[in-house]
Amino acid sequence: MSSSCSAALVNMYAAHHHHSTLPHLRFHISNSAILMTALLCFNSRTHCFLMPPPVLGIYCCTSVYFKTISKEKGKDCCKWIGVTCERVTGHVVGLDLSCSGLQGNIHHNSSLFSLSHLQRLSLSCNDFTGSPVSSNFGRFVSLTHLDLSFSNFSGHIPSELSHLSRLVSLNLSAYDKPYYLRLETFSLKRIVQNLTNLRELVLDGANMSSVLPDPFLNWTSLTHLSLRDCRLHGQIPWSLLLKLDQLVWLDLSGDNLVGQLPKVHSNSTTKISSSLYDSFNKKPEPAVLMLSQLQQLDLSYNSFTGAIPSWIYSLPSLASLYLSNNRFTGTISKFQYTSLTDLDLSYNKLHGQIPISIFELPNLSLLSLEANNLSGVVEFDKLQRLKYIWLAYNHLSVRLNNFSNSSWLNLTIVHLSSCNISEFPYILRYSPQLESLDLSYNQLQGKVPTWFLDGRKDTLSYLNLSHNFLTGNIEQLPWRNLKNLDLESNFLQGQVPIPPPSILVFSISNNQLTGRLPPSLCNLTSIQILDLSNNSLSGKLPSCLGNFSDSLSVLDLRKNKLVGLIAATFKKGNVLRTLDLNGNQLDGPLPQSLRNCSNLEVLDLGNNYINDTFPNWLETLPMLQVLILRSNSFHGPIRSPITRFPFQKMRIMDLSHNHFCGPLPKKYFENLLSMMNVQGDELKYMGEYYYQDTVVVAMKGSQLQLVKIQTFFTTIDFSNNAFRGKIPKEIGKFKSLKGLNFSHNYLTGSIPPSIGNLTNLEWLDLSSNMLVGEIPRNLADLTELGTLNLSENRLVGSIPQGKQFNTFENDSYIGNFGLCGYPLSKTCTTEEAHPSSFQGEDDLEQVNGFDWEIVLMGFGCGMVIGFSMGYLVFSNRKLDRIVKNFGRELRSKLLK
Ligand SMILES: *[C@@H]1O[C@H](CO)[C@@H](O)[C@H](O)[C@H]1NC(C)=O
Ligand SMILES: *[C@@H]1O[C@H](CO)[C@@H](O)[C@H](O)[C@H]1NC(C)=O
Ligand SMILES: *[C@@H]1O[C@H](CO)[C@@H](O)[C@H](O)[C@H]1NC(C)=O
Ligand SMILES: *[C@@H]1O[C@H](CO)[C@@H](O)[C@H](O)[C@H]1NC(C)=O
Ligand SMILES: *[C@@H]1O[C@H](CO)[C@@H](O)[C@H](O)[C@H]1NC(C)=O
Ligand SMILES: *[C@@H]1O[C@H](CO)[C@@H](O)[C@H](O)[C@H]1NC(C)=O
Ligand SMILES: *[C@@H]1O[C@H](CO)[C@@H](O)[C@H](O)[C@H]1NC(C)=O
Ligand SMILES: *[C@@H]1O[C@H](CO)[C@@H](O)[C@H](O)[C@H]1NC(C)=O
Ligand SMILES: *[C@@H]1O[C@H](CO)[C@@H](O)[C@H](O)[C@H]1NC(C)=O
Repeated sequence: MSSSCSAALVNMYAAHHHHSTLPHLRFHISNSAILMTALLCFNSRTHCFLMPPPVLGIYCCTSVYFKTISKEKGKDCCKWIGVTCERVTGHVVGLDLSCSGLQGNIHHNSSLFSLSHLQRLSLSCNDFTGSPVSSNFGRFVSLTHLDLSFSNFSGHIPSELSHLSRLVSLNLSAYDKPYYLRLETFSLKRIVQNLTNLRELVLDGANMSSVLPDPFLNWTSLTHLSLRDCRLHGQIPWSLLLKLDQLVWLDLSGDNLVGQLPKVHSNSTTKISSSLYDSFNKKPEPAVLMLSQLQQLDLSYNSFTGAIPSWIYSLPSLASLYLSNNRFTGTISKFQYTSLTDLDLSYNKLHGQIPISIFELPNLSLLSLEANNLSGVVEFDKLQRLKYIWLAYNHLSVRLNNFSNSSWLNLTIVHLSSCNISEFPYILRYSPQLESLDLSYNQLQGKVPTWFLDGRKDTLSYLNLSHNFLTGNIEQLPWRNLKNLDLESNFLQGQVPIPPPSILVFSISNNQLTGRLPPSLCNLTSIQILDLSNNSLSGKLPSCLGNFSDSLSVLDLRKNKLVGLIAATFKKGNVLRTLDLNGNQLDGPLPQSLRNCSNLEVLDLGNNYINDTFPNWLETLPMLQVLILRSNSFHGPIRSPITRFPFQKMRIMDLSHNHFCGPLPKKYFENLLSMMNVQGDELKYMGEYYYQDTVVVAMKGSQLQLVKIQTFFTTIDFSNNAFRGKIPKEIGKFKSLKGLNFSHNYLTGSIPPSIGNLTNLEWLDLSSNMLVGEIPRNLADLTELGTLNLSENRLVGSIPQGKQFNTFENDSYIGNFGLCGYPLSKTCTTEEAHPSSFQGEDDLEQVNGFDWEIVLMGFGCGMVIGFSMGYLVFSNRKLDRIVKNFGRELRSKLLK
């Protein structure tokens, strides 16, 4: 039989013995080696490779072992899995190498291309990253089926594919790697002209942005046309499309298409009158609408507008209709035929009632009308086959309690968020397949019924009862395979109920839970997100908290009554991303094991009693973006960074309301890279897809809760500490900064003009310090600045006028007796406007022979009693002068 193998395969077999120098488990396959390995992967399991002769053997990734294949079998390639030979000639006519774990390039000179008799070739589901689709594919003139999908080919789709005139099916789909492949009009035209036998064309994910869709649509033999995510844009020439009378499957989803669907009066055999025809196409010839075969129509994720036209409702074979995520308006009509199984009209702007006829469609299995503007009462007791239902986010009132218990056996996904449901739907008792139930944002009240909690549903994996009015305590959660449980925003009481160990996401925030954190929490070894925030949980943190689940990414315990040390030990290699303990009564120092949280992005410890120095050892955490230490007992100076690029990603830094002292950390200001250039073209939020971090930021003078943190939101709040010294001019590097608050410290010197470089600044608070000199003129150029507070300082001269400064009022400046000009009532005399002879900080030191640094450092860092009190006694007269010069603020600070 070996003679019946094609020469190419045998040659390859021989030619590649140099690979036999053992065992590259992921060796780079080039050219013809592909065939060898591929075939072997098929013979064994994936990730196993067979070495060609003379060292014939199979190498698997985990264990290397030889398995001798009999010579006979090894030689007769027609017996290899995936190879089909023509019986008489022995030519290889079929090669199926799909999902064979192949990697590498397919060059033009690959011996693959000498298999000239191939009729069917599949290389799909491999990894040929970097390989173009060789124009040599055009040499397989006998090919009827070519499948190169999901194999990471890239570059142009060659026009030589148009030589494959017998081709019936061409699949270049790659929507998992969109736009790797590109198709130009030139190639497309040639392909359309020559491949007259083509019936299936799948180009999902190819970049067709430069192609006008017309040429496609002249292809009356097509049965399957799929151009999902192809960047087609603009209007579809419907007149041509509707002529594809063999079409069974049409997918134009995700393509930026716009405009209205044509309003043709249709019936599979009705001619469109030319006047109607003209309304959507300028060409004079009348079109005939013939989509009588169409079973699947997917136009989702485009920008279609207008009403869903009547011809859609009268396609006689239609089984699946996906029009979601468009801007369709109008109402939903009756479907003329009963063939429909899947109907997805979600995320549009449809209004009115859901026609009862939909609930009478006998085959309907999927119904998604979520996120429209539908209204009315929905009372359904039919839909025997319904498995998946989404009706959330409309203005519907859903009544589920009229039922006959056998009707609901198939229900698998039930998403009825915000459907005005006030009673637990009893039908769920009879839904043995239920996997996912979302009844969030309804009016469920009272206790969760025992029949619901008793029902052992091992199928249930997602349960969302958030935002209802549930009360009482839940003692058991019986669903053994539950993965997501959301009980947020109810009125649940008692202890924290412990979900089964299968749980991945558990939120019971915003309830009234009490008691301690149960030690059994430590049994949730797979949990990724644990949110118990905003309850009344008390007692100490269990010590397992840092290391009970290797997958824990979010731990949110904010706003409870937890006390004691943060005794948690965070293991090396943990994946914690958010740790939020804000608003408890935790004390003691920070646990040093936080160093091990190399994935940490958000650390919020605000509003506790933590007593520690500034944790500069956190600066090595490469992902840390939000650090909130607000309102604790942090103290001491902020020492210099210990690394070259400290806090590389820091964007929100709130150290306010502590006892930090010493100079502002100039060295940090020189190096906080992300404050300097956060790019923010797109509106993105942290954790957008799995958990939205919430932080409270003092913003524009009031505390705001940010439920989502924009990824380019950057603020610094060091207010209400005892920082002293000058504002470092380096602050002007923070180009992305939106808010800066240094108020209520002992800052001296003048406002550095470099603050005028902070072009994104929206609020600036330097109030209640001891700043001197004039307000830099260039602050008037900060066009985003909406809030300015410079009050209670010792600023002098005329207030800058014009631009932003016209919008600020008196409050921004009060307590600076040397300021004049609008909006203050005090007008500027010539002398006041240019106060050249004012004793600034330096002058004053000379005049008084008095060293500010020492007094303020002594005070700020807690040495006030031993050091500056002595000084005060010693030089009372000088104190009077200081007080005169620097105002009440200082006096009260020094004497309190
Ligand atoms: C095939 O072509 C590639 C790149 O063009 C080249 O590196 C390789 O040596 C060629 N192989 C053979 C066997 O000619
Ligand atoms: C798509 O192709 C066009 C040129 O045809 C190119 O300008 C564009 O960048 C490509 N888009 C993507 C996302 O690769
Ligand atoms: C469609 O095909 C016909 C002949 O098959 C040709 O005359 C016509 O120009 C083609 N239309 C387009 C838009 O390519
Ligand atoms: C379509 O037309 C045929 C004959 O012209 C007719 O029998 C059929 O009922 C029509 N269908 C619809 C939905 O109007
Ligand atoms: C929703 O529909 C009602 C009529 O049913 C209409 O008054 C209202 O403007 C619509 N709302 C939106 C956002 O389209
Ligand atoms: C539960 O539903 C609410 C509102 O519909 C949603 O915001 C939340 O993300 C859901 N919870 C989970 C865990 O999916
Ligand atoms: C905390 O939960 C209570 C209900 O227990 C709710 O009223 C309040 O708005 C919640 N606070 C926050 C900040 O979510
Ligand atoms: C953890 O689970 C095991 C087995 O289910 C159980 O024996 C143990 O008591 C649990 N531990 C706690 C603290 O609940
Ligand atoms: C902070 O801790 C130190 C000892 O570590 C202690 O002397 C000091 O009193 C504590 N401060 C506060 C405010 O608890």
